Amino acid sequence: MSNIHCIGICTGGGDAPGLNAVIRAATKAAIKKYGWKVIGIPDGFDGLIWPEKSFELTLKEVSGILPKGGTILGTTNRGDPFHYKTVENGKEITRDISGQVIANATKLGIDAIITIGGDGSQKIGYELFQKGMKIVGVPKTIDNDLSATEVTFGFDTALHTVTDAIDKIHTTAASHHRVMVVEVMGRDCGWIALEAGIAGGAHVILIPEIPFTIERICQHLAEREKYGKRFTIVVVAEGVKLPPEMRENRRAGSMGNLIGNAIANMSKKEVRVSVLGHIQRGGSPSPFDRILATRFGVAAVDLIAAGGFGMMVALHGGSIVSVDVAHAIGHLKSVDPQGEVVRAARAIGVSFGD
Ligand code: F6P
Repeated sequence: MSNIHCIGICTGGGDAPGLNAVIRAATKAAIKKYGWKVIGIPDGFDGLIWPEKSFELTLKEVSGILPKGGTILGTTNRGDPFHYKTVENGKEITRDISGQVIANATKLGIDAIITIGGDGSQKIGYELFQKGMKIVGVPKTIDNDLSATEVTFGFDTALHTVTDAIDKIHTTAASHHRVMVVEVMGRDCGWIALEAGIAGGAHVILIPEIPFTIERICQHLAEREKYGKRFTIVVVAEGVKLPPEMRENRRAGSMGNLIGNAIANMSKKEVRVSVLGHIQRGGSPSPFDRILATRFGVAAVDLIAAGGFGMMVALHGGSIVSVDVAHAIGHLKSVDPQGEVVRAARAIGVSFGD
């Protein structure tokens, strides 16, 4: 058993629906099950640069936050204490302030920290662990691209948001006989595009894992037209790799707009583009995400009690397990182009533009 009296909680990287549910569950379990004090660290590890900004998370503090999107602790996807950027005498300089961060955590009486974040935040947590900080990780990202866990909280809510958007775009696409391009998040992997695309009945799904050409997309539009379908929904993951000929003259603009313009030029059809952007990261977490986040929060506290530092909670086979953070970071979970989900989509006539 570890000798713990006080834990800190911080949220790092882009926010995701369910962060507050983790904060609430971890705080409640720490207080009710173990009698520990809980400190909220604001804005990721940046909060430990100014320890006076940290505050106690009481049962009252976490009451009512379960259905709220975002994070009551605030977050940043630029804060890295090992490469902390400041402007001094008009020049940007990068410093390693990890020692200061660890010292400030000790000053606050924090014995161990729960880091809720994606790959980047878990990497920072692991480096702090190597320097002696007691860290336990909770995986988060709407992109669902962390290989160490079957699913991250936030993904399911994002799927609901995107599916709802595609449903709405469907009716206007059909009415106007247009090609509608919907750009969704997914910087490295195509999970949101693939799964929301299937759920929303998209006709073309473009993901980073499958190379595509504009010609093949236009052939698909023509084939649809042959059996009377004059509209098409194209879901594009923001991180798709453009075909070589489009890379050369790549101008600024969203991926959706670039692809939409190219489809319009080649097919001579009317095309409209919707970039869903950060609405995918907002909103109240779905029941699935609230439950997963609650289970992760409680499991993280139990992991601290068991002395499982340098570990991260994860979902495997529907059960909560703990994995070594060292093995969890740096390996993204890509969509398998030959996998069952892609094959199911192809079987019902979805084109991947290849
Ligand atoms: O990592 C999640 C994610 O939603 C990516 O899909 C997206 O590229 C990124 O965050 C956007 O982050 P921000 O605009 O907040 O820097």
